[in-house]
Amino acid sequence: MAGGRALAALLAALLAASAQPPRRQGSFTIPLHAADNVTVTIKLRPGVSLGCQISVKNTFSSALRIRPGETVTFTFTCSTPEKYFIMEIQKNIDCVSGPCPFGDVHLYPPGLPRLNRTFIWDVKASTKAGLELKFATPWLRQIQPGESCPDLVNYNINSCIDTATVNIGTFCRNGSVSRVKLLGGVVMSLHLPWNSALTTSGFSIANRSSIKRLCIIESILNRESSITLMSPNYPLGFPEDELMTWQFVVPSNLRASVFFHNYSLSNCERKEERVEYYLPGSVSNPEVFKLSDSQPANIAGSFNLSLQGCDQDAQNPGILRLLFQVVVQHPQIDENVTHLVDLSKERNMTVTIHFEGWPSRVPLMSEPMCLICKDPRTCDRVLTLVSGAIYKISFLCKDLSHLRITAEKGISCVDLRWCQKKIHALSVPKAITQLPVLLHKFIWKLIAPEMINVEITSPSLKLQQHLPDQRCNTSYSYSIVSATPEVDLNVGIFCPGGAIEKIQLRNNITISLKTFGKGFFNDSNHQDLKMSFVPHIKDECTFTVSPDPKAKIYLQSPNLPYGLPPYVSISWYVVVPSKQVARLGFSKDRMGIACETGRAYVNIKEQTPGAEEIVRREDELLPEPRNMHHNFWVNISNCKPVDNMQLTVQFWVTLAEKQIDLAVILAVLAGAGVLAAIGLTVCCVKKKKKKSQNPMVGVYNANVNTQMPGKQRLFKKDRKNNDSHVYAVIDDAMVYGHLLKESNGSVNPEVDVYRPFDGPMGSLPPSPPPFSFRKDIKRSPSTEEPLPLAETDQDSYTFAHQKSRELEDNGDNTNEKNNGDTSTSFLEDKEQEGLEE
Ligand SMILES: *[C@@H]1O[C@H](CO)[C@@H](O)[C@H](O)[C@H]1NC(C)=O
Ligand SMILES: *[C@@H]1O[C@H](CO)[C@@H](O)[C@H](O)[C@H]1NC(C)=O
Ligand SMILES: *[C@@H]1O[C@H](CO)[C@@H](O)[C@H](O)[C@H]1NC(C)=O
Ligand SMILES: *[C@@H]1O[C@H](CO)[C@@H](O)[C@H](O)[C@H]1NC(C)=O
Ligand SMILES: *[C@@H]1O[C@H](CO)[C@@H](O)[C@H](O)[C@H]1NC(C)=O
Ligand SMILES: *[C@@H]1O[C@H](CO)[C@@H](O)[C@H](O)[C@H]1NC(C)=O
Ligand SMILES: *[C@@H]1O[C@H](CO)[C@@H](O)[C@H](O)[C@H]1NC(C)=O
Ligand SMILES: *[C@@H]1O[C@H](CO)[C@@H](O)[C@H](O)[C@H]1NC(C)=O
Ligand SMILES: *[C@@H]1O[C@H](CO)[C@@H](O)[C@H](O)[C@H]1NC(C)=O
Ligand SMILES: *[C@@H]1O[C@H](CO)[C@@H](O)[C@H](O)[C@H]1NC(C)=O
Ligand SMILES: *[C@@H]1O[C@H](CO)[C@@H](O)[C@H](O)[C@H]1NC(C)=O
Ligand SMILES: *[C@@H]1O[C@H](CO)[C@@H](O)[C@H](O)[C@H]1NC(C)=O
Repeated sequence: MAGGRALAALLAALLAASAQPPRRQGSFTIPLHAADNVTVTIKLRPGVSLGCQISVKNTFSSALRIRPGETVTFTFTCSTPEKYFIMEIQKNIDCVSGPCPFGDVHLYPPGLPRLNRTFIWDVKASTKAGLELKFATPWLRQIQPGESCPDLVNYNINSCIDTATVNIGTFCRNGSVSRVKLLGGVVMSLHLPWNSALTTSGFSIANRSSIKRLCIIESILNRESSITLMSPNYPLGFPEDELMTWQFVVPSNLRASVFFHNYSLSNCERKEERVEYYLPGSVSNPEVFKLSDSQPANIAGSFNLSLQGCDQDAQNPGILRLLFQVVVQHPQIDENVTHLVDLSKERNMTVTIHFEGWPSRVPLMSEPMCLICKDPRTCDRVLTLVSGAIYKISFLCKDLSHLRITAEKGISCVDLRWCQKKIHALSVPKAITQLPVLLHKFIWKLIAPEMINVEITSPSLKLQQHLPDQRCNTSYSYSIVSATPEVDLNVGIFCPGGAIEKIQLRNNITISLKTFGKGFFNDSNHQDLKMSFVPHIKDECTFTVSPDPKAKIYLQSPNLPYGLPPYVSISWYVVVPSKQVARLGFSKDRMGIACETGRAYVNIKEQTPGAEEIVRREDELLPEPRNMHHNFWVNISNCKPVDNMQLTVQFWVTLAEKQIDLAVILAVLAGAGVLAAIGLTVCCVKKKKKKSQNPMVGVYNANVNTQMPGKQRLFKKDRKNNDSHVYAVIDDAMVYGHLLKESNGSVNPEVDVYRPFDGPMGSLPPSPPPFSFRKDIKRSPSTEEPLPLAETDQDSYTFAHQKSRELEDNGDNTNEKNNGDTSTSFLEDKEQEGLEE
């Protein structure tokens, strides 16, 4: 019944509405009392064509001004004057010469035409008195210049002292700013769109005793919320040598945190720009902070914050401005749980706890905050801890899965005599793995001068190379990159549980441990990667591989997918247990390149006296699968391939019992064919070998290239600041994509974004690199070839930005169980420290 009546009423209303004639504004009569001191101005909106006029007693004009004490009746010559005209209603309030009309401010006069309108209240007051603008709920929200309000209603507050005007801010309705107190005069304007139904100004004016500063802005934050505020005149400068205060009313059962998002400082001649806080429960109020400091967090209850300017340098004043955010949250369950992070025994290590996606992603201000606190009040979204100290940290965060740890450790060797015997464990310290935050990346930077090289071993777990045919499915992997000042070689991605026992590498090496999912929390208990500095090695990289019996392993030349750089040589030493026989085969039948300069070779040789060496040039077929009865070498050396050709060689090795192998051979080759077949093979090999023994070859490109004229640093000067901004990176989002998926959503692919580098680049395109990884080899004079790679990863391979500072050798030697030289190492450390001084 009631429903029916309501429906009927609604219908009636709708009918009434539709029965109205097209809206037409009739004549308007506006009486303005002299005492009100209100002036109404109607004028054409700037830039609009004259399509409508105002008619007063049959005289037409395009503007109308009604002064205090006048009454004017007028009409518009069109039905939509709001398209053409705007209106300003200015009220002068003089509190200096007469009594001030305090209280609610009305939208006067009534009966105005529906035009976009701006009400302006120009209040003159003595600078000795304070004026308070008090806003009705739902209060106000400050917006940045250029921003607009959803309902197009906005307030603008200007403070006028003498002739100077300071823009306190522009505000929308619906926020937490409840009061603004000012000194002296104020010009307050309220802008309404023509169709606004607002009938009250939404604020009142009161007189207050002097506030002794430019202004006080009060916000009431009585539930979980966030507010953004700006200093007056933002983004222009805060007035010189001024003081202002923001007051925050927060219930004591909630916690507030302050974040300075944008600020700049002026050039102070006297005094210092600073902020001062009155914090609840603090015994040292006011607490003074620099704008660059991490601001207080987890404040329990109401507080205030004052911004103090300085006396600026008249010649070059600079700009003091501040945009900040206050976030109010419920206390987090774990706010009082502290985690001990003992980095006192670590050396040259930084640990950064940060939000997902840092530093490339800036979280939206509206996102829930996860704060990391160094002490109960010093919290931030990103916290960096450095070695040599003990920290007690806590988290203010509902869901720690939004946080990540990125750590970096530098290990360097200046003089081999001090570091050769020392074995550094490349393992993530317990201090990090025991935190309830997922490790994103741990980066080791191994730094040494050119003639000192690096050996990486994984004695018990051994490493597997991550390849399309042999994917890593572990909870973590290592990416190994070797870098010269000119260019980087992406050695590959490796994970524990394979056949690679040892990798010897040249150049400065960056090893990044990257985790995939929560499994690392468990797997971190048995990490097994060690490194030491070794004397100069001949090849760019040498892998020592010792496959498990019956395993089939794949190995591939580095720098996927761009191919081995020109003139680089790589070698593998494959260990074959005595009772086993290895079978070696190549994944393709050719190297697949043509050389522009030099020749490319694959050399295979068993490590036994009198063993045959199998040599294949790039224009020859690679060997067929073959059995190897002893430990053997597979060496690859590149030429400078013709444009767009890249050398990538992949091979596989399987092991089998010798007897079984023999039996198979006997079975297959039973009969008279055996001897003939063997004879043929030997003959072929002999022939091949003969062919390759031409004088130019010297078998190894190393020798060929040594004779070439050197232009090693040809392009060095052309790169800006000599840093390599170009990284050879396997797109492991591509090859590792399955792992990202498998980790069941706990790792968001966005975390490990492989985005194109958009930072500063050298004056040259990321091309003609001085491609020599062999520092003892001279480069071919031909330099036209473009670098076939330009993919980069800002956040993971930042090592190329290393400063040319010398590192001291300072690895930890806590894990050196099988290093008989611990005492020596210790001594070395001491000596090292002596040297440092
Ligand atoms: C009135 O205000 C609205 C919204 O701010 C704007 O789009 C429109 O152009 C204004 N009209 C005039 C005549 O200024
Ligand atoms: C009206 O405003 C003007 C300008 O501010 C001022 O001089 C004048 O005294 C005011 N008159 C009244 C009645 O408030
Ligand atoms: C006021 O703002 C809140 C969030 O900021 C929003 O949810 C609410 O709808 C707004 N209210 C009005 C009347 O605009
Ligand atoms: C406000 O103004 C009235 C009348 O002018 C005066 O009596 C009162 O003391 C003022 N109050 C303050 C806080 O200045
Ligand atoms: C901070 O200032 C910069 C430069 O003025 C501007 O691009 C950026 O958007 C500002 N950030 C915020 C949160 O306002
Ligand atoms: C700031 O807070 C302190 C302590 O509550 C109070 O004494 C002081 O008057 C406040 N200052 C301003 C400007 O609000
Ligand atoms: C944390 O400790 C403070 C001070 O002891 C206490 O007031 C607060 O309630 C505690 N917070 C939680 C969530 O237990
Ligand atoms: C610490 O390691 C960084 C690289 O992570 C390196 O740039 C820095 O020079 C090293 N400092 C010392 C004192 O070894
Ligand atoms: C990883 O792959 C190997 C073989 O490729 C398999 O034996 C092993 O169970 C896999 N491990 C996980 C955790 O999936
Ligand atoms: C490794 O880095 C150090 C310091 O940045 C530098 O002096 C040295 O030349 C680099 N070594 C190579 C091989 O690039
Ligand atoms: C870690 O190990 C524990 C006990 O060995 C096991 O219960 C838990 O499921 C493991 N967690 C992960 C993420 O593998
Ligand atoms: C392969 O390289 C290693 C290391 O440089 C070297 O000792 C070995 O003799 C080379 N073997 C062949 C067949 O070239």
